[in-house]
Amino acid sequence: GIPPLMNRLLPGGEPGRLLRSALPLPARYTAELPVPAVLRPVRSDADADYYEITARRATVRLLPGHDTEVWGYQGTFPGPTVESRSGRRTVVTHRSELPRPTAVHLHGGHTPQDSDGHPLDLVGGSAAHHDMPGMAGTDGMAGAEGATVLAQRAYTYPMAQRAATLWYHDHTMGFTGPQVYRGLAGFHLVRDEEEAALGLPHGPRELPLMIADRSFAADGSLAYPELPGGAPGVRDAYMNGVLGDVMLVNGAPWPLARVDRAWYRLRLLNAANARRLRLALDPQPAGGGALVQIGSDGGLLERPLRHDGVDLAPAERCDVLVDFSRYPAGTRVRLLNRLGDGPAGEVMAFEVGSAAADDGFRLPDRLATVERLDPAKAVATRTFVFRKGEQHWTVNGEEYRPGRSIAAPRLGQVEVWRFVTDFHHPVHLHLDPFQVLGRTSGRPGRNDTGWKDTVDVLPAQGVEVAVRFTDYAGRFLLHCHNLEHEDMAMMAEFTTTE
Ligand code: C2O
Ligand code: CU
Repeated sequence: GIPPLMNRLLPGGEPGRLLRSALPLPARYTAELPVPAVLRPVRSDADADYYEITARRATVRLLPGHDTEVWGYQGTFPGPTVESRSGRRTVVTHRSELPRPTAVHLHGGHTPQDSDGHPLDLVGGSAAHHDMPGMAGTDGMAGAEGATVLAQRAYTYPMAQRAATLWYHDHTMGFTGPQVYRGLAGFHLVRDEEEAALGLPHGPRELPLMIADRSFAADGSLAYPELPGGAPGVRDAYMNGVLGDVMLVNGAPWPLARVDRAWYRLRLLNAANARRLRLALDPQPAGGGALVQIGSDGGLLERPLRHDGVDLAPAERCDVLVDFSRYPAGTRVRLLNRLGDGPAGEVMAFEVGSAAADDGFRLPDRLATVERLDPAKAVATRTFVFRKGEQHWTVNGEEYRPGRSIAAPRLGQVEVWRFVTDFHHPVHLHLDPFQVLGRTSGRPGRNDTGWKDTVDVLPAQGVEVAVRFTDYAGRFLLHCHNLEHEDMAMMAEFTTTE
């Protein structure tokens, strides 16, 4: 079990800071749900597919009647979707025309150090970047020397991993929050044979849904608080995370998707900087259990799990099937966020068409073989405390300092890691996923099943996970995925060794 110490931590703090949009909020369920384009490789050879992505500023239409500048991969928000086959190498060359450098992390990728998107391994165009505030000594990010800025970087992903919903996003030292907020995020899907054999809904019936909240200034631009280091008070506004009042799905506000009376696969991703979601369909179909979870961060579950609602903290994914034939034709089914007030309480809607489309899909009892990590075999138990420090956020009492390693797990060995907090932190590990063993509350969360790479650690609670790092020796990150917490130094490095 988890030691009682974890129960005695301080109660939870204040929620994030809500920025209210300065323009009238758009009508709900009028925008059509966009689906990000799938990127084509620029070339392929016997063992790899090669892609090129340029991050740039672009003016796009997120809200009706307004132009919004985004920073997007290929100038779009979300960026294009990359698709990989398990076991087949994917090489993505990233370039940037942005005014600031960027680092690209494949979230959920089993990736060697050189391609992991370390916050100081930067991509950027202009030499002026070196003078930009924050490059060295960003508030809370002392010791940023050691950064390398290349004009382009080829990120190599061996893809020795199961089918799963991954995503790629900016990971720049001290500026991940504002850069992802401006649009630097996209899906990267991994497919494999085990999944293909299930005949899951696909094509137009497979929808990746990137959910993120944003706020807009009167001129239609994305509103974000000043960066830390600004006027007094700004830091406090920023400290707990930034929440917006417009819910975007794939970049559209409260969109509508027209669906057949058939099974759909929804790959839910919470790409918000700081907002937690509790998603539920409304109305619930007779009998409930509308959200049939088939996968989590790290791919398929052993068996489907029926939920009335699913919780998603920032960066978590939940792969669900929904059988819209359970609804009468013409039903408008809303996807609600039960943790959100007012406009943030609604996310999108599905309009159920009249055609009964028998897609022939039958939900299998068994989905996949999922290896269990055995905590009895653990060679070490480590505790990581996520807390507010004097000025910033800390892991084990320390602000992030590149190059300082706080744990050295051996490759191939199981360890038990405990995450403890007095606040609310979605804790994420790079390199390999983990399995949740338990929570201090005794009850696993409704989304703790299967392989996870991000786990929502709740105030005054501990979470215990089993983890085993494999294949790649090097330095990797653990951090809070509330992006403002991450930028405010709640990050640390561990070093995997042979
Ligand atoms: Cu999604 Cu280290 O991040
Ligand atoms: Cu946090």
